[in-house]
Amino acid sequence: MSKQTDDFFKNVVSHAKEYGFVFPSSEIYDGLSAVYDYGQLGAELKNNLKQYWWKAMVQLHENIVGIDSAIFMHPTIWKASGHVDGFNDPMIDNKDSKKRYRADQLIEDKIARYEADGKTDKAAQLQADLDAALNADDLPGLKKIIEEHRIVCPISGTSNWTDVRQFNLMFSTQMGASAEDADTVYLRPETAQGIFVNFLNVQKSGRMKVPFGIAQIGKAFRNEVIARQFIMRMREFEQMELQFFVRPGTELEWYAQWKETRLKWHLTIGGNPEKYRFHDHVKLAHYANAAVDIEYEFPFGFKEVEGIHSRTDFDLTQHQKYSGKKMQYFDPEINQNYVPYVIETSIGLDRLFLTVLCNAFEEQDLSSGDKQDSRSVLHFHPALAPVKAAILPLTKKDGLPEKAREILQRLRIDYNVQYDEKDSIGKRYRRQDAIGTPFCITVDYQSLEDNTVTLRHRDSMEQERVSIAELEKIIAELVGWKNLLGAL
Ligand code: GAP
Repeated sequence: MSKQTDDFFKNVVSHAKEYGFVFPSSEIYDGLSAVYDYGQLGAELKNNLKQYWWKAMVQLHENIVGIDSAIFMHPTIWKASGHVDGFNDPMIDNKDSKKRYRADQLIEDKIARYEADGKTDKAAQLQADLDAALNADDLPGLKKIIEEHRIVCPISGTSNWTDVRQFNLMFSTQMGASAEDADTVYLRPETAQGIFVNFLNVQKSGRMKVPFGIAQIGKAFRNEVIARQFIMRMREFEQMELQFFVRPGTELEWYAQWKETRLKWHLTIGGNPEKYRFHDHVKLAHYANAAVDIEYEFPFGFKEVEGIHSRTDFDLTQHQKYSGKKMQYFDPEINQNYVPYVIETSIGLDRLFLTVLCNAFEEQDLSSGDKQDSRSVLHFHPALAPVKAAILPLTKKDGLPEKAREILQRLRIDYNVQYDEKDSIGKRYRRQDAIGTPFCITVDYQSLEDNTVTLRHRDSMEQERVSIAELEKIIAELVGWKNLLGAL
């Protein structure tokens, strides 16, 4: 990361904390690694992102419905899905610092250093060796690479390493009243399995016909070996997933369609299209016949935000096998029973949140002539902004607060709005810019005479005089979901 992008990212993180978007979890107890809390504005932004996804995926599609399955599920589900045996990361410990690392990430860091030093051939060779070792599950091979490239522990500076071992990422706990008959259950590492095991419940109760989809938003938990980059890699996070069930043989057409649909969705909120790209998976998981990531260019490089997989009939077939229950669909159009194939779209809500913050954040220089001036501003899309409008009486007297509160009462029924009478009007505008409020409504002396107010626009900082009676209509027009959904 260059100094400039490093500074930008640090500013985004500190802005998120200072203005109540994201706090480190359990901060007064020195925090809990890779766990974060969303503050008063972060919770609003997150809810708006969820709503936008839900509207776009469920509400706009006649053949997609949404569910909310439990976090705890029967433990055999994770055996059937392959998570008990295969949801692992290769880890290695440094015996001097007692720190644990992901072996592949230590090697990736080395590749990045080779690239930064202009040793591109060496970087490419190391990448190829890493891919080969990972594909072959060759743990001694990973250790050999670490030794050959003299990779040292960033804390102790030594290469006194343990062997590389597999580390299962699922959290487990006990369910049951007494220790003797307690069952080990897992905190789900993905929401997807809650959809698969409910496939027939939804299909039958909703009289769904293939092709159809089941969507879900919910928490997932992974005991990540190392946490990185703020809310990018967390131990508790949220996913928004769709499993779209299709007739076998049609899956690659649907896969291509969902790729385009999902990228378009990102671009409606994302601003610059150059910051997004597809990254095809070269090595496919054993259950997939196509897979791609939608990556976003964070200040620390292009990283996955969403995965789109053609998962074949793997999951339903596995559940059929392990549960002994049929997971088939009778297709009346072709008069056949089959296990449907599945296209999955899976987006991390927290990563999406970070893309939106990074896209929106700007330290704007407003200096003109000798006058130095600047502002921090979050250019959120108005439909996503946590606070839609701030109502600001110019002064605290002469009936202006009362008039402003009348407007507040009317707008707060439909929108999250704020009232603020403290400090100069300029300072209040800046506070609202910093939290991304698209509109400031200022009540002044003229308002008492002619029932008009000024409406200030966050991005242009331009002000217009509008009638109070028109406010609801104007705001609805500007912050309405159709501004986003209409572009899909
Ligand atoms: N059901 C498929 C699945 O879970 P995944 O690629 O492991 O696939 C999907 O995860 C998305 O979940 C990722 O694209 C990412 O946005 C998000 N995600 C995964 N692990 C995460 C973590 N530790 N912290 C935050 N988000 C994560």
